[in-house]
Amino acid sequence: MEIQFTKEPLDQIGVELLVAVCVAQEGEKNLEKPKPAFLRRVAADQHLDKVLGGYLTRAIQDQTFLGNEGETLVLHSFGKTKAKHIVLVGMGAPKKFSLETTRRMAGSIVQVANRLKSNSVAAFLNPAPFLGTKATERLQALFEGALIANYQFDSFRGKNKKPKNTLKKWVLQTTGNTNALKEACQVAEGIVSGVNLARELTNLPPNKLNPTTLGKAALDLAKKYRSISCKVLTPQQIRVERMWALLAVSQGAKTPPSFIHLKYHPGKNSKTKIALVGKGITFDSGGLNIKTKKMEEMKMDMGGAAAVIGFFETLGKLKLGVAVEGFIPAAENMPGSGAYHPSDIIDSRAGKTIEIINTDAEGRLALADALDYACDTKPTYLIDMATLTGGAAYAVGEVVTPILGNDKKLIEKLLKAGEKAGEPAWELPIVQEYKRGLVDGPADIKNSGSGSNASTITGAIFLEEFIRDTKWAHMDIAYTSWAAKPRYYFSEVGATGNPIRTLTYFIQGL
Ligand code: BES
Ligand code: ZN
Ligand code: ZN
Repeated sequence: MEIQFTKEPLDQIGVELLVAVCVAQEGEKNLEKPKPAFLRRVAADQHLDKVLGGYLTRAIQDQTFLGNEGETLVLHSFGKTKAKHIVLVGMGAPKKFSLETTRRMAGSIVQVANRLKSNSVAAFLNPAPFLGTKATERLQALFEGALIANYQFDSFRGKNKKPKNTLKKWVLQTTGNTNALKEACQVAEGIVSGVNLARELTNLPPNKLNPTTLGKAALDLAKKYRSISCKVLTPQQIRVERMWALLAVSQGAKTPPSFIHLKYHPGKNSKTKIALVGKGITFDSGGLNIKTKKMEEMKMDMGGAAAVIGFFETLGKLKLGVAVEGFIPAAENMPGSGAYHPSDIIDSRAGKTIEIINTDAEGRLALADALDYACDTKPTYLIDMATLTGGAAYAVGEVVTPILGNDKKLIEKLLKAGEKAGEPAWELPIVQEYKRGLVDGPADIKNSGSGSNASTITGAIFLEEFIRDTKWAHMDIAYTSWAAKPRYYFSEVGATGNPIRTLTYFIQGL
């Protein structure tokens, strides 16, 4: 998206849509007689109202538009401004304002612009600090929300289907140092190009994206940046690495597994080294324990892998100063004639034997070998991201990511980064009570317990068996990496790119 800064008053700017921000009244809402919103008290928006003969103020007096966060009302300018339309966008009540509010407002504006088929919008950016936020922070948040909202998964769409997004340009009326503002936009661009790459990979169907083509996507990314290198292990090399658990998962599929190892080299020496592991099940049919519900959503079971690859794009773009390695065990979980059986006892790279109770608990098997491999590289912190359990939604719903791990400090840092990023997370406890159900069989461990509802915790307990003395956190993104309905700046159903924004703020805060 093209970005321009100007000092011209809003009505004089040659765009198709102007934005005016409205603030909701504080306090209890009286639904019978709601208090009207009011226009943001900045000269730019007030001037626009004046040029329009007080039309904006009058429009909000009718009390159907209350200025709630992200709420919009579109008005025609009847030739009084260069732009044809004006959109009033709600900021909500000032007490609840945060950078996430800005992202959501930006998302709403982009959706309106595309609905009106506008190619350009203009808004006033307050250069002064506002409710504890700096202009550069708000601008970054604005573009994060806008660029995420403008993404469409449209590579397979015929010409006569839903129209493509039209919005191409944002003009910001502001004063002050535009260098700092331009930099804020570039940071947002760097973050969201990673987020949208992850979304695209996740949205691709399993006949287009399999372990081989996922490997190719990682290799292509590495070609774009001198700071990134990548190798993809073939099935033969995976056997040499003794990744028996990953191999077991892929047995029932025609497409062979792959193992992706990415490295990001920062320009300077970095004492800290972060290892990221992403679950890369390109389709999860459940295997012989075949899924009976929502199998069509299981193309998203490589959301963790996509987050790793997407985050490397962000690392390359933003040139962050920390060394990062990425590890992706990729396989298809299918019930073909060679498929692993419930009751199989398999080996793993770490040397532990695993009894397969449920072939649908495949992610932890693939991850077990990848975590063991990642531990060999002795990272400062090891973070895995996996669409591991449906139970994640029972624990914390669709917008909060459960985090579990063995290091309080690491978890704390991730929770803080998530809050800043607008990707909320919450810690779940690894209580050892649930381990009993995993170790009472003939092998060292079972891949699924019985009799516990805490599947997200049991999943983490299983993974912890394959962590040595490394500081580790596990993010169960089963629900947060996928928006089953559009929400806020996620304009359409599909992948969200969670938790790439969290990782960015986490690395920046180290
Ligand atoms: N990929 C699924 C988890 C999942 C479910 C992700 C729904 C997104 C939405 C995973 O492989 C799985 O099937 N997990 C099982 C584990 C169980 C068999 C122990 C689950 O959560 O039911
Ligand atoms: Zn599964
Ligand atoms: Zn799965």
